[in-house]
Amino acid sequence: MKKRSKIFIEACFGRKVDHTPIWIMRQAGRYLPEYRAVRKKYSFHEMMHTPDLMTEITLQPINRYGFDAAIMFSDILVIPESMGINFKLIKNIGPVFENPINTLEKINTIREPNINYFNNIFEGINKIRNNLDPSKALIGFTGSPWTIAGYMVEGRPSKDYRNIRSLIYSNPGEYHHLMNHLTNTIIQYVSEQVKAGADAIQIFDTNASYLSQSIFKKFSFPYLKQIINAIKKLNVPSILFVKGGGGWIELLESSGADVLGIDWTIKLEEAKRVVSKNISLQGNLDPSVLLSSNQTIEKETIKVLDSYGYGFGHIFNLGHGITPDISIDAVQTVINTVRDYSKKYKNF
Ligand code: CP3
Repeated sequence: MKKRSKIFIEACFGRKVDHTPIWIMRQAGRYLPEYRAVRKKYSFHEMMHTPDLMTEITLQPINRYGFDAAIMFSDILVIPESMGINFKLIKNIGPVFENPINTLEKINTIREPNINYFNNIFEGINKIRNNLDPSKALIGFTGSPWTIAGYMVEGRPSKDYRNIRSLIYSNPGEYHHLMNHLTNTIIQYVSEQVKAGADAIQIFDTNASYLSQSIFKKFSFPYLKQIINAIKKLNVPSILFVKGGGGWIELLESSGADVLGIDWTIKLEEAKRVVSKNISLQGNLDPSVLLSSNQTIEKETIKVLDSYGYGFGHIFNLGHGITPDISIDAVQTVINTVRDYSKKYKNF
């Protein structure tokens, strides 16, 4: 039987589609009343580690809006958890670690976990895949080693990530120890995600922009390349989202990723000029646009579509995650606009 094609996967590989596919980073989250209703009853950790809850929450935005891809409900910080570095979500702060790895001794004790730690997550992926329409893709994900390490070392969201930045200069050996162990763990983790049913993998490198390009290139990029190479062997598309990476497109293209996720600080048309035809682009509406009127939302969404113009290698998304203060109606306006307006760029 011929598998039904998934428009999201087609666009990842730049193949012909009849409109631009759309999903939104953090689409399963607090802006949805149905998410808040579940969250009232369960802790964030229960929601992440119970396959049935993970499935329910992942499917919420698909059921409401019909996005072209679902992203598994989880968090990049399950990786530190698997290494025994646990966090709590604190209101108005974010994730806070009880015991950050803020000494060299602690960094040296970091080891790769037993991959069975993630079994509930793999079971959840399997369940989601079985309950998701075959025309929709399921995106698995990981944080980048650099972004995850930042949380482990700082212990909480930081305004400058200076402790881990200084580690690069003062103790590169320990820094590389940490990055190597994270990279090996991530490779195993995403491989199992794909075996469990994920159709694509996105790497979130949210904290890249705290580094200069030359430090990024030497101290973070080689690890990203290792992960992307491993994803390639799994025969699913890789999406590399580097927040603040707009000025680094040429370098990021050399990562081998099939899709580059970009934020709103670079125009799609500029990124498209730099990358070869083999690479797709994902993005890049400024999430703050969604706080304005429907008319403005429509106008700004059209600008993004016009900026990419003709071609098949575009996946519509925001330039970063959706925030809890955004109205459900604003999201519907974006989706309607993308579905209707993008058709004109697919028939040429
Ligand atoms: O995209 C999706 O819908 C899938 C789920 C997802 C979450 N976190 C759920 C979540 C994904 C892909 C992430 C990734 C993530 N987590 C990143 C990288 C992407 C980004 O947005 O920058 C980072 C840096 C984290 C770490 C993290 N987790 C932070 C900083 C926070 C607190 C900030 C916030 O948004 O509240 C979290 C908690 C978190 N992760 C929530 C959700 C839905 C909020 C949980 C709640 O209070 O209900």
